[in-house]
Amino acid sequence: MTELLLLFCAYLIGSIPTAVWVSKGVFGMDIREYGSGNAGATNTFRVLGPKAGSFVMLVDMIKGVMAVRLALLVGYYQNPDHLTQLVNLQIGLGLAAVVGHIFPIWAGFRGGKGIATLFGLVLAIQPLVAICCVGVFLLILFLTRYVSLSSIIASIAFPILILFIFNEPEKFYRIFAIAVALMVVLTHQKNIFRLLNGNESKVPLFRHRDR
Ligand code: G3P
Repeated sequence: MTELLLLFCAYLIGSIPTAVWVSKGVFGMDIREYGSGNAGATNTFRVLGPKAGSFVMLVDMIKGVMAVRLALLVGYYQNPDHLTQLVNLQIGLGLAAVVGHIFPIWAGFRGGKGIATLFGLVLAIQPLVAICCVGVFLLILFLTRYVSLSSIIASIAFPILILFIFNEPEKFYRIFAIAVALMVVLTHQKNIFRLLNGNESKVPLFRHRDR
């Protein structure tokens, strides 16, 4: 029962629609009507600039960390015999926050794609894996300047790291890692079509020469 309540709280935390509230509250517009239409950090960067984008990214990431931290409220967190249950609960809480981010109750169930909140989740559970995923993300971003492609490839790298590099023993964690990659591909369907059609927008981060 406590776990169910915590999962619901995690969903509510994830549901905080940072990009929507910042765009409406500070800029008097709805971010979902501009750019890619996504209520996430990338689109906030694109439409409202780096300050708003960084803020949205940070808060969305913290939502994932906070959701995982809710597991500390259950009694068994200090007992090594319950490590598997603890990890499973942490993953469940993080996922509930990601679902909240994608389908926010506070913003008509039209949210973002879950990347920043997912990153917060992984950072809270396994920081080293999160850092490796960031490395993959930055490498692809540097090479292509597509945030969406970088997000997708970093998410696919996640189960590869978990299964083959870190040899994660927890079965639920392994399933979760594979599910994350599939989920990110699903939330990026429109980006994938745009990438295939050659009309996905790039970030002007580096001094590339466009051909
Ligand atoms: O995190 C979302 C990013 O991967 C793509 O965002 O706005 O380009 O659809 P966007």
